[in-house]
Amino acid sequence: MINAEIGISLNKAKEFLDNGNCIGLPTETVYGLAANALEIKPVLDIFRIKNRPDYDPLIIHLPSIANINTYASFESDKLKYLAEKLSPGPITFLLNKKEIIPDIVTSGLQKVAVRIPNHPMALELLNMIDYPLAAPSANPFGYISPTSSKHVFDQLGSKIPYILNGGDCEVGLESTIVGEENGKIKIYRKGGITTEQIEKILGEKVIMNLHSDSNPAAPGMLKKHYSPNKTVEIINEFNWPTTLNNKVGYLSFSHLPEGFTSENYYILSKERNTEEAAKNLFSGLRYLDSLDIDKIYIELLPETGLGSAINDRLKRAAASD
Ligand code: TXA
Ligand code: MG
Repeated sequence: MINAEIGISLNKAKEFLDNGNCIGLPTETVYGLAANALEIKPVLDIFRIKNRPDYDPLIIHLPSIANINTYASFESDKLKYLAEKLSPGPITFLLNKKEIIPDIVTSGLQKVAVRIPNHPMALELLNMIDYPLAAPSANPFGYISPTSSKHVFDQLGSKIPYILNGGDCEVGLESTIVGEENGKIKIYRKGGITTEQIEKILGEKVIMNLHSDSNPAAPGMLKKHYSPNKTVEIINEFNWPTTLNNKVGYLSFSHLPEGFTSENYYILSKERNTEEAAKNLFSGLRYLDSLDIDKIYIELLPETGLGSAINDRLKRAAASD
């Protein structure tokens, strides 16, 4: 068994990657479990370490749009325009895969997911190496994504040699995944870039394709995901629990409900700021999951902007299968 070192040395991170290891990588969204995307063994290790099924493809990370051409091609100028406007940033593009990317990275799909992360250490590291980094979120499959190096250490510290510490993730939600089909821009996962932002840039409506188990375009978007070990239940004014005692926890957007007596709560943003709420979301869920309680109650946010992406995670956390 290894015990990961948490550090800030880009040279060390590069050395581990060059030698075929997986490392913890900070990005602005969540921490990734990163390895050389062009080598089979490190990519297989990613799947093994995460306990991730091989039908769930990986995102590759590059230092700039200018590097994309070697590994993938844009379907059209529309998606390219979007990529130019929003990269680096919390958005991933499904592009036509070139031969150089091993099939195992894309689980055999013809499209490869590409993202330019907006994190200074990640970008610097990507500029130091001459291969893309395949990196899913650095959590065991199905569990809550990590937004700090400690989160990564707690779950994968015994399986990887190094975690690059880039502080707490600024965005706190995974990237938005977009692609293009028949000239239409589609969103496959809501994330750090809102639908409203994308539609404003394009000047047109986009299509939602937030599949669960049945859509082959993004097989990883299973209904149950981002799940704490405890039971999670969504509550609202029409579905209010009869007991809110110390055996339950509550994840609240901005304030505690009247009559709430439990000490076990986490408030996402007192100011009702959705950016702050997104940044705190996964820490809040992890905190509540660590308490001696039977159940976590959660409430949904107003369904606009980042609130919509947060609600997507909350609903998946509460899904029963
Ligand atoms: O913010 C993020 O995107 C983070 C950071 C580390 O970059 N990464 C991340 O990766 O969230 P992961 O593997 O946890 O989620 C990637 C999602 C999966 O649901 C996967 O199914 C989908 O992207 N995906 C990857 N490649 C795909 C492809 N070729 N076609 C369709 N969906 C794809
Ligand atoms: Mg993930």
